[in-house]
Amino acid sequence: MKEEKHHLERERIKDLSPAAFIELTVNELKEQLTDDRVVLGLSGGVDSTVTAVLLNKAIGQNLFCIFVDHGLLRKNEFETVLENYKTLGLNVIGIRAAQRFYDALKGVTDPEAKRKIIGKGFIDVFEEEAHKLQNIKWLGQGTIYPDILESLTAEGKVIKSHHNVGGLPEKLNLKLVEPLKYLFKDEVRKVGAALGIAESFLQRHPFPGPGLGVRLLGEITAERVRILQEADDIFVSGLKEFGLYGKVWQAGAILLPVQSVGVKNNERTYENAVVLRAVHSVNAMTADWVQLPYNFLAKISNDIIHNVNGVNRVAYDISAKPPATIEWE
Ligand code: XMP
Repeated sequence: MKEEKHHLERERIKDLSPAAFIELTVNELKEQLTDDRVVLGLSGGVDSTVTAVLLNKAIGQNLFCIFVDHGLLRKNEFETVLENYKTLGLNVIGIRAAQRFYDALKGVTDPEAKRKIIGKGFIDVFEEEAHKLQNIKWLGQGTIYPDILESLTAEGKVIKSHHNVGGLPEKLNLKLVEPLKYLFKDEVRKVGAALGIAESFLQRHPFPGPGLGVRLLGEITAERVRILQEADDIFVSGLKEFGLYGKVWQAGAILLPVQSVGVKNNERTYENAVVLRAVHSVNAMTADWVQLPYNFLAKISNDIIHNVNGVNRVAYDISAKPPATIEWE
């Protein structure tokens, strides 16, 4: 049975030290992949980066990485992360495709429809790029154990279509290689550290594949993405400045499809509301909201309202998972 097989695989590696896991995995990858070429989508996150560095260690320049800017990344993230990948010695192609995603998302407000469009857009761009490469046999993916567990417990019911690259292996007619499939997030970070990836990169918060798309409720437009990016950047930079970033599992801003009345320079305003969310978690299966200091929240709220055009209200999300989820969509 599938569930049992996953369990046995997890048992096989769960007590290994990071160094032993790396040695075993690199040897197995060499054996499995021999001289084959692999294509891998990078997301800017820890999982795909560690996957890339492991594969790079096993097969070197036979690994081809693609990093797509779907226009739903954090502020300046595409440029910064692309630079980091190059420093890690990865063979990476960066594709700017934001406008294409905004066009496809025009007028769409349903959360699952948005996720599907972003997922499909990603597949299309990835496929186009992958086809330009010659003789690719494998698709690498940064799947981790909670992804597997969550898809098992969902018993066929889709809570959120998480696997934004689902369908890619079949479409591209590639075999799948997922070296982190049986690790939890904290273990992935330890493996990354043992691989020499910078701590600042490894401690980055998890960020969903559909990016700000699942934090931007209502219609996605370039202007609304800009508003969310600005607010999110103030929040995340503030967490770093106050020494809080590393104490939080995941944090970000959410833009609501709601406007509220405010007052600025004695004038009535009718503008957007932004929600801040920061959670503690161990593996994303459950989570609780973080009791951030009031003085910090006050500063961030003030900075957002005064510096982000189009926002006149900030709220803080105090919901645990379950019954809420970490992302709003
Ligand atoms: P939820 O919202 O289900 O999120 O509590 C749990 C964790 O998964 C991340 N997440 C995603 N990651 N593609 C991803 O790669 C997705 O479609 C996706 N949706 C949610 C979320 O950020 C949190 O860490």
